Amino acid sequence: MSSTNNIIFTAKPGGCLKGTLRVPGDKSISHRSIMFGSLADGITDVSGFLEGEDCFSTMRAFRSMGVEIEHLGEGRVRIHGVGLHGLKQPDAPLDLGNSGTSMRLMAGLCAGQNFTVTLTGDTSLSTRPMRRVTDPLHEMGATIGSTEKGTPPLVINGANKLKGISYTLPMASAQVKSCLLLAGMYADGKTCVTEPAPTRDHTERMLQGFGYKVDRDGPTACLEGGGKLTAANIDVPADISSATFFMVGASIAEGSDILLENVGINPTRDGVISILKLMGADITLTNEKEICGEPVADIRVKYAPLKGIDIPEELVPLAIDEFPAIFVAAACAEGVTRLTGAEELRVKESDRIQVMADGLLTLGINVEPTPDGIVIQPGTFKGGEVDSHGDHRIAMSFSMAALRSTADITINDCDNVNTSFPHFIEIAKQSGLNISS
Ligand code: S3P
Repeated sequence: MSSTNNIIFTAKPGGCLKGTLRVPGDKSISHRSIMFGSLADGITDVSGFLEGEDCFSTMRAFRSMGVEIEHLGEGRVRIHGVGLHGLKQPDAPLDLGNSGTSMRLMAGLCAGQNFTVTLTGDTSLSTRPMRRVTDPLHEMGATIGSTEKGTPPLVINGANKLKGISYTLPMASAQVKSCLLLAGMYADGKTCVTEPAPTRDHTERMLQGFGYKVDRDGPTACLEGGGKLTAANIDVPADISSATFFMVGASIAEGSDILLENVGINPTRDGVISILKLMGADITLTNEKEICGEPVADIRVKYAPLKGIDIPEELVPLAIDEFPAIFVAAACAEGVTRLTGAEELRVKESDRIQVMADGLLTLGINVEPTPDGIVIQPGTFKGGEVDSHGDHRIAMSFSMAALRSTADITINDCDNVNTSFPHFIEIAKQSGLNISS
């Protein structure tokens, strides 16, 4: 998708967040529901599907490969699975927009097909590193072309038969782990992936839900090639990454008291709750239950004075998408916050360390970016104009900063908020943020 329209958010200072909110469905699970539903035998019904541009990119890609996918509205999707070997060669390159998850997971899947496919994306995705997936896929026997820099487009020639490998990930990345496990379904023998730290395990959980056996032994996940997926209905929980903006907003704005309903609290995703609690946030979980193999809960957040912390490095992969918002919380805390071990933030939809540092400095916060993190001194947001660099999570994080600002915050290049959080402005307004676009 293009970010040339330049949607601009203007958030007015002050206010607090109140009420009961339901944020949209989990992005990681929504992507996987389309992928696994497409490759399953039978019909998969999905509810709570994230109707955001990233997941629509995945949906369009599978439709282009011959899968009938009915979008029934209000988060309901029906997928007529074609089986693991039923995909067809698309007529044109598959444009995956802004979505790194689509590209990295589909690189693995497409490597197992017996046709050639090209994966492309928008300006941001076209600069993101893909050697992390193409190197191990080459080891499995795949033929994949990319640019000299190892960036998209990826041209995946599925003619070769893949062989299973045992691979230790050089970085904590669920996208790379998932890519290899998906390629492994098409490989001869066993594919094992060992991760240096726990990352989101939706692929492992969901593959099992679709009847494909995945063995887990400590940091290693293994599967045998040649199995099959059987259709399974999926109820997607609300996305903890989208809930995060409201968790931070309520924590920093005096008088706030919100209830976020039915949020996924998978232990490989809940680092933001641990980090905010270490900072002194008032967060309680109620109504905990398991839906489709994923733990969910209602999350109540009330205002509480926060304190700066040294963020424990083991929490970094468990909160990897939440740091832009956590930085906003840190600016409102008493005392310094230090983040280390988070160099992955530099290769997300934007360089989230630099882009957040630039924006926080513009707003009057004293920050020092480092190669693998940032040091944030508390301060007062004085308002101003910041640039999200087309990064959805940066746009929404700076929106929340307005709750503690002394003047308007204007945020440029906000189109991509639609990749993960359609109706953000409406939901934010309803809960008390004075924001418009
Ligand atoms: C995702 C994994 C994470 C995350 C992304 C979604 C996934 O990326 O940042 O938003 O669905 O597997 P990495 O695995 O590269 O850290």
